[in-house]
Amino acid sequence: MCGIVGYIGNRKAAPILIKGLKKLEYRGYDSAGICTLNDKEVIIKKDIGKIEEIDKKISLTNLEGNIGISHCRWATHGAVTKENAHPHTDCSGKILIVHNGIIENYSELKSELEKKGHKFKSETDTEIIAHLVEENYKGNLKEAVLKALKRLEGSYALGIIHSEHDELIAARNESPLIIGMGDGENFISSDVPAILGDTKKVVYLDNKEIAVLTKDNVELFDLDGKKKDKKVEEIEWNAEQAQKGGFEHFMLKEIFEQPQVISETINGRLEDSDVLINDEIKLSEKEIKEIKRIIIVACGTSWHAGLVGEFMIEELAKIPVEVEYASEFRYRDPIVDKNTVVIAISQSGETADTLAALREAKKKGAKIISIVNVKGSSIDRESDSTIYTRAGPEIGVASTKAFTSQLVVLYLITVYFGKVKGVLPAEQVRNRVRDLRKLPLQMQSVLEENDYIKLHAKQFYKKTNALYLGRGINYPIALEGALKLKEVSYIHAEGYPAAEMKHGPIALIDKEMPVVVIATKDNITYKKVLSNIQEVKSRGGVVIAIESKGDEEVKKIVDHNLYVPENSYILTPLLAVIPLQLFAYYVAVMRGCDVDRPRNLAKAVCVE
Ligand code: AGP
Repeated sequence: MCGIVGYIGNRKAAPILIKGLKKLEYRGYDSAGICTLNDKEVIIKKDIGKIEEIDKKISLTNLEGNIGISHCRWATHGAVTKENAHPHTDCSGKILIVHNGIIENYSELKSELEKKGHKFKSETDTEIIAHLVEENYKGNLKEAVLKALKRLEGSYALGIIHSEHDELIAARNESPLIIGMGDGENFISSDVPAILGDTKKVVYLDNKEIAVLTKDNVELFDLDGKKKDKKVEEIEWNAEQAQKGGFEHFMLKEIFEQPQVISETINGRLEDSDVLINDEIKLSEKEIKEIKRIIIVACGTSWHAGLVGEFMIEELAKIPVEVEYASEFRYRDPIVDKNTVVIAISQSGETADTLAALREAKKKGAKIISIVNVKGSSIDRESDSTIYTRAGPEIGVASTKAFTSQLVVLYLITVYFGKVKGVLPAEQVRNRVRDLRKLPLQMQSVLEENDYIKLHAKQFYKKTNALYLGRGINYPIALEGALKLKEVSYIHAEGYPAAEMKHGPIALIDKEMPVVVIATKDNITYKKVLSNIQEVKSRGGVVIAIESKGDEEVKKIVDHNLYVPENSYILTPLLAVIPLQLFAYYVAVMRGCDVDRPRNLAKAVCVE
């Protein structure tokens, strides 16, 4: 994710901005830039690469001026180039802007501004905001910004300065932005770590709010220009905690980031009745119509995402799908041809087995689509098309937010292929888009059950085994829940198809073997899952069920109930997995495990 730092005060801005930007490097980025105002002179420096490298090349910290903005960019619109790095300017060069987020209606605004004679230097959505402010600027910067913001659709955290104004304007919608209050100086930042060394007094901007900062004052307004008052909060974190956003571990922070991650992953890729990924999937409609088979190759949690993807694609796009362990696929001389699409799923984009499987498939003539979280990774670079999960860096070794983001990308591909192949009528596409848009808020509501889930973990953290059961599209979630528990708490846990349990594993059932069952409502196997639960209960098993909110049946027969909201059957996995992630996390913490760096594990398995 991009990072923003801004400063206005009595000190030189550049060293403060660069120090702050370095504290945001954990968010992941591919270019960086800074702009300061030295009296009326605008000084801009930006380039691709890491901050250290850029600083060595063009020296970022010795710029004059005590007003400035800086940015580390994680490319979404526009390639990784110096021109696309932030800050961006308007035609006059007097208005400077940095942005985190995605402007969904940028192409229509860009053509409108071009018709009015505006000249663009970059491919980014951000640059149109600078020109929009210029278009509305009549001498009052705040008024011009408010008018420009009213035209924007999508997410933004903005830092804006003008060479003729001693002020710094911040604006926020969906992408977080914090105001830091100092003594004779004020700051803006995407996240606490960047300003923690300078102030612990912060104000959190809410959606559709702006702040006007001078060195001695901060004023907040809504988009109608109405003044707003806000409490100044005191940050109690130390620096390391700040990178974890105040959470005890990165894993917990990343679990809680999922609603925002899903919003970012769908941002700019949806219209009310359409999925807009045609410029990311470099397959013509003809090639998509000719796809005879899809093979998904991945490892671990990404392989579980592939299993969910198989249900999605076969159900909605009617294309046969096989899901393969990448490590197996690469050695079995697979049958692949030009009408086969291979989807490689990988958070790191560096997993050796997945990369090798991709190369094997490519050699045999398959078209390669990859779903990765790290731009410029090996799998990204060797694929014909890449659709990025916009999860931001996933620091915890146990994958959580990348997994749900992978499921969203698979869903987008599914709906897009279904539409192109003519098997998903427009009304169906509209409904599928509507279901997806509901997810971030629904995920947020599951996260609010956090304390309740923690209580359940307390009852089970001393166990030595566990069984996770699921059917249909929830079977991969049973596997994922079991893997989460295994890898962070070291408890042996097994995921199993609920119906298969009576063909062997049922021998394991006793009161010491907790059984987690995903029993969400669907019109396919729900009743069968109830029977499977009865089979466990009749052998003295203890059952923790993941149920649909309002379910009256399951709670009569199980010992513990964890609820998730109802969505379409095919999106339930994105909700059902959250209680399992939290359960695994709290069990591991209660067992004193190193949650973010579990023993024996690597975040990216770059060896065979
Ligand atoms: C997931 O929690 C594990 N850390 C592991 O299974 C991981 O999913 C697997 O190694 C694949 O990694 P990738 O997604 O980076 O390719």
